[in-house]
Amino acid sequence: MSSFEAIFGNPPEVEERAPGRVNLLGEHTDYNDGYVLPIAIEQQTSVSMRRSSRTRYALYSETLDDIVYFTLGKSPEEHFATYVYGCLLEAQAAGVEVPVLDIYIQSNVPMGAGLSSSAALEVAALRALRALTGFSLDDVRIAQLAQRAEIQYAGVRCGIMDQMASSLAGTKQALLLDTRTLERRLVSLPPASAVLVLDSGVARTLATSGYNQRRAECEEAARQLGVSTLRDVQEVSLADALPEPLRRRVRHIVSENARVLRAAECDNAEEFGMLMNASHLSLRDDYEVSVPQLDQLVALLQAHPDVYGARLTGAGFGGACVALCKLGLLQQISEAVLRDYSSMGLKGRVLVPPTLGAIEPHS
Ligand code: GLA
Repeated sequence: MSSFEAIFGNPPEVEERAPGRVNLLGEHTDYNDGYVLPIAIEQQTSVSMRRSSRTRYALYSETLDDIVYFTLGKSPEEHFATYVYGCLLEAQAAGVEVPVLDIYIQSNVPMGAGLSSSAALEVAALRALRALTGFSLDDVRIAQLAQRAEIQYAGVRCGIMDQMASSLAGTKQALLLDTRTLERRLVSLPPASAVLVLDSGVARTLATSGYNQRRAECEEAARQLGVSTLRDVQEVSLADALPEPLRRRVRHIVSENARVLRAAECDNAEEFGMLMNASHLSLRDDYEVSVPQLDQLVALLQAHPDVYGARLTGAGFGGACVALCKLGLLQQISEAVLRDYSSMGLKGRVLVPPTLGAIEPHS
């Protein structure tokens, strides 16, 4: 018997999956119409559905072992359920006839670490709805509906990077995305390199409020500069007339966009790594979204001889670091770095690749 059947009494009609993502470069640029370079990770979320004869939706999360009942008239209080609720409403607004459903969520995407577990849930839910109803939605449309669901119903004024990555990226190549036009192409990692993601162990407490505040600062800076978004600022010096912290925020966005475009053209791991290191400094000093523990972990990664570069990834305020490393050495690197991190009284863990995730931090 499937797990779905054990909860709901019948097997599901459809099951669809979507991956989390790690962003290699281009942080906080997406809501400024800029460039991003995420790659999908192996961990995925699966959403199974079956039409129900009852009057309420039933949504079960295996990770949380929690079942939530709701109707489309009133948002559920449980945070994980608001993502699915939002997707159902957005799909309905797009013309999908959404039946009452039993829904089952399974996921091994780490939650709250900056690897887009929410986008994976949204995209998987919309894919399942597409499969169930046969309604035609392409992958870009799915990403757009998922982003709207997150903004409208989960309260984060996010850009479209995570949902586009979950909907369109693969695990072998990064997705260079222009978030203004949604033009995109796949970009190979530099030869003989591999991606490592380590969790700092610091929960992203300020993520929602700090994130929305940064976004508001960018909008204010664009207004004062007379441009529609900061994507349109080409020269950092144009921001000189702005008051702080707006000047620094603009400096991050303009320099970060340039780093993404350079990284997408370079097939040299050292240069790619230097761009990642520069991104971290910019996120720490100009954008002010790092925390001391992330800085420590990034510094340990950067100091390792087999690491090309490292930086915080995702929104910041806690969460994970991404590093570009020499291929084949991820185990040694992560063991050494996590050992040093734990000797500072901090507890990290490997998030990507999941095959290394069993490594326990030394304590
Ligand atoms: C979160 C948001 C994205 C993006 C990143 C920062 O992951 O969901 O849209 O803004 O933060 O780059």
